[in-house]
Amino acid sequence: MFQNVEMAPADPILGLNEQFKADRRPEKVNLIVGVYQDESGQIPKLKCVAEAEKRLMVDLKSNYLPIDGDAQYASLAAQLMLGPDDVRLNQGRVVEVQTPGGTGGLRVVADVLARTKTVKTIWHSDPTWANHVGIFNGAGIQTKKYAYLNAAGIGLDFDAMVEAIKLIPAGDAVLLHGCCHNPTGVDPSPEQWVEIVDVMKQRQLLPIVDCAYQGFGQGITLDAYACRLISQSIDEAIIIQSFSKNFSLYNQRVGAVLVLTCDADSTDRVRSQVKSCIRVNYSNPPQFGAGLVRIVLGDTELRSQWQTEVDQMRQRIATLRQQFSAQLAAKCSQDFSHIATQCGMFSFSGLTKDQVNRLKDEFAIYFVGNGRMNVAGLTTTTMEKTTDAIAAVVS
Ligand code: LMR
Repeated sequence: MFQNVEMAPADPILGLNEQFKADRRPEKVNLIVGVYQDESGQIPKLKCVAEAEKRLMVDLKSNYLPIDGDAQYASLAAQLMLGPDDVRLNQGRVVEVQTPGGTGGLRVVADVLARTKTVKTIWHSDPTWANHVGIFNGAGIQTKKYAYLNAAGIGLDFDAMVEAIKLIPAGDAVLLHGCCHNPTGVDPSPEQWVEIVDVMKQRQLLPIVDCAYQGFGQGITLDAYACRLISQSIDEAIIIQSFSKNFSLYNQRVGAVLVLTCDADSTDRVRSQVKSCIRVNYSNPPQFGAGLVRIVLGDTELRSQWQTEVDQMRQRIATLRQQFSAQLAAKCSQDFSHIATQCGMFSFSGLTKDQVNRLKDEFAIYFVGNGRMNVAGLTTTTMEKTTDAIAAVVS
């Protein structure tokens, strides 16, 4: 039976990473997957997480978690995103659920929307994270694009974005990146978010906000701006959270889904559907990573230590951006100043497919095929190599 099975195409991000691992050139540089590395090229273990691990080890349980996961964790995640003053939490107008990472959360959302026939079409920015389309299409929901980037492909075309959203039929969903847009690093300003939210409200569109990089753009609170504005302005919306990056817990798969509802009665019904979709998928989530996040967010001292550690990671990325852009300015005539102004882990470099292929083939430097680079994966040594190689391929 399996002899006729066709090869599936390699994933543009994790598939390329497999190619990188098989590359035998010792000088190779990996700027593919969105993983933060420190100056020594290591994924850091946060000090707050190390302390939380000690505390969690004495309290580990063997029993299954509930279908919707660790309730205290999910509630802390919701408060972190929506803010302490959001009235929804007290009014029971949020379904907050632990999920296996942001990706698992997106898939739960897709399954719930498909099963309940809430929306037929989800509109996403052009471009968006390579996995978004597959997740929603895989659940049977069709996807369409709205305009996002300017002609140069490195900044926001805000007018085109808003015009495109105005044309979306009422009742469809709009997928947004809450902060640190993946793959471009190009975010709307707070004033632009106000207009986007206003248009979505008028058009009766369902906002679905993927927020996987809270703390890596402008700061933990400022990065929640769009989600908080949506929660305060629009009755119904969905937010997907990930703690992979801001807790440096990539392989623990710690995420959450928040379904914002208009009343407590819908909350109960939506929660029942969310649980039913989870039960037939992975039954219930694992406890360890979410337990660590619960301990840190629930403890005043560890939480403030976490905020400091996230601030340090964000500031280091901002410095890398400045240095990278300055080195390129010194080495070649093409303008790369957008790398300093884009935010989060990623930059849309503006390099063509051919130039990205040359970086890989001639210099063993790996970007994603669309020109996305993981700025947070650079070190002093790899930055020098990468800027030399870019200067060579653009000259
Ligand atoms: C990325 O975009 O590199 C990360 O979100 C990791 C992934 O799963 O693709």
